[in-house]
Amino acid sequence: MTGSPFTVRAMQATDLPVCLSFTQAVKWPHRDIDWQLHYETGNGSVITGENDDIVGCILWWDYDNCATVGLVVVPDHMQGQGLGRRLMNTVMSQAGDRTLMLVATEAGKRLYEQCGFSVTDNVTQVQGTLTGLPMKPDVPDVISSMKQDDIQDVFSFDALAYQCDRSKLLGSFFPLAQGVVARDGDALTGFAFLRTSGRGQTIGPVVAASEDVAEALILTLLENVEGFVRFDLTGCAEGVKTWLMDAGLQQVDYVCVMQKGEKSQCDGSRKVFALASQAFG
Ligand SMILES: CC(C)(COP(=O)(O)OP(=O)(O)OC[C@H]1O[C@@H](n2cnc3c(N)ncnc32)[C@H](O)[C@@H]1OP(=O)(O)O)[C@@H](O)C(=O)NCCC(=O)NCCS
Repeated sequence: MTGSPFTVRAMQATDLPVCLSFTQAVKWPHRDIDWQLHYETGNGSVITGENDDIVGCILWWDYDNCATVGLVVVPDHMQGQGLGRRLMNTVMSQAGDRTLMLVATEAGKRLYEQCGFSVTDNVTQVQGTLTGLPMKPDVPDVISSMKQDDIQDVFSFDALAYQCDRSKLLGSFFPLAQGVVARDGDALTGFAFLRTSGRGQTIGPVVAASEDVAEALILTLLENVEGFVRFDLTGCAEGVKTWLMDAGLQQVDYVCVMQKGEKSQCDGSRKVFALASQAFG
């Protein structure tokens, strides 16, 4: 009896061009810089076949008690042979008892259900080029550029909203993205990042105490955006979505968030309005 010709191994930097070609083939907008960032901050695996050719990839991001899974791709001609399942089994075993979250495409939903995930939220992808700046919200909070001194407050604020420790991820955004914070007196009331990615620029994560503060943060970042901008808005960002669409952006996708395991919820005093990316959460 012969064994499986497929082997799962850790992803290496030299694998990124092949992984990028997989996401390009399914028409995802990632560029090499996006793959680099996701690779450097995550735990990647690839599955190889005969001749050591890569025939699938997956990554997960460790946020202490929870983790997100993303960039799961098996190229078209290799699908339906159990490779996606093997990649998911690898991640589920590496992640141990962490609660797992992912944003599921229609193609992946059945596989994730079979792996024990169920739908908990949705994400709306809103993007395009603004026809004008959206309306300025009326908030007393002061918006300013994120500085080194803000970082610990940002980590704590995010941990309360997200209910996981994303400090490693956010720390890696700090030098390469433009960050803004909102404060009411000394108290942090929100933060957001803008970075170059995909077809242009992405604003996210956006985490704030209220919709108005989220909009004030976004507006400050949009003042520096020229051309294409993308948001992955969570289920609590309906108002923000309408506000952005009134300024010319379009909804291009609506996908579900799936989760395996329990996760505590924030009391609502801080909310995640936009994801860092669909893979990062
Ligand atoms: C999702 C994806 C990774 C699945 O990979 P795969 O290697 O084909 O999956 P598997 O062969 O391990 O199949 C696992 C299960 O999912 C089911 N499945 C896989 N693709 C499916 C599809 N397109 N429609 C319905 N069910 C599907 C299989 O039937 C299988 O169930 P079974 O064991 O009861 O037969 C692959 O379809 C893919 O890369 N799609 C494009 C990119 C994408 O959308 N990725 C998901 C991102 S969240």
